[in-house]
Amino acid sequence: MARQFFVGGNWKMNGSVEQVKKLVEMLNGFNVPANTEVVVAPPALYLDRVHQNIKKEIKVAAQNTYIKASGAYTGELSPQMLKDMGLEWVIIGHSERREYFKESDELVGEKTQFAIEAGVSVIACIGEKLEEREANITNDVVARQMKAIAKYVKDWSKVVVAYEPVWAIGTGKVATPEQAQDVHAYLRKWLAENVSQKAADETRILYGGSVNGANCKTLAAKPDIDGFLVGGASLKPEFGDIINSRQ
Ligand code: 13P
Repeated sequence: MARQFFVGGNWKMNGSVEQVKKLVEMLNGFNVPANTEVVVAPPALYLDRVHQNIKKEIKVAAQNTYIKASGAYTGELSPQMLKDMGLEWVIIGHSERREYFKESDELVGEKTQFAIEAGVSVIACIGEKLEEREANITNDVVARQMKAIAKYVKDWSKVVVAYEPVWAIGTGKVATPEQAQDVHAYLRKWLAENVSQKAADETRILYGGSVNGANCKTLAAKPDIDGFLVGGASLKPEFGDIINSRQ
C-alpha cells in the first residue's frame, strides 16, 4: 500500500484574530493534491475558528492533549474535547513540549495512546539534539523515543511519526536529504523489527526542521520521507509549494 504524502503545518504559539483570518484565506486558496493529506495546527484558542472556516481538504490538529478525558487539570485539553469539536488530529511530543514543559518519553507514549483511544489520530514527534547527533547517538535516541511510543500504541494506522532533529527546528539549518533519509530508513527498520512489517510499510514518517519552499522537493524525493511537519514556513505562502512538493 502506497503511503499517502502528508504535510502538517505547526503554527506553534503564533497568530491573532487578524492573522488567523489571513492564514485561513491563504490556505483555502491552495491547491491540495488528491494524493496529499494536509493538516494544520493552530493554537488551541483558534482551533474552532480555523476548523469552521477552512476548506474540507485541510484538516485541523491541536498541538497537545492530556491523558484524561476531563477533570481537575487546569490548562489542559482532552482528546475527547477535540473529538467533540469535530477535530481528528493532535501533535504529541513536540520537542518544544519535551524541552520547555518537561514531557518525558513515557508521557508522550501515554498521550499518544490516550488520544488514539479517544478516536484522534496523532502526529508523534521524535528527534535528537545537536549534542546527541555530534556524539553519534542519533539512532539510539530516536529508538528510545520510538520504544516509549510503541510500548503504548496498539493501532499504528492512527499514528504519523514526525522526525524533527532539534538542531534543525527554527534554525534555518535543514538536515540534508541524505541525513534525513538515513534516519527515516532506520526508523522504518526499527518499526519492522519491533512492531511489524505492516507498521513499517504503512506508517508515514515525516521530516520536520527548517523545511521551506526551496528545500522541500529534494527532501520529498527521498523514498522514506513521506511528508513534512512545517513550522515557520507554514505561516507563509510557500506552504502552498510544500503541499505540492510531491507533484
Ligand atoms: P521550523 O519549520 O520552523 O523549523 O519548525 C519545525 C517544527 O518544529 C514543526 O513542528
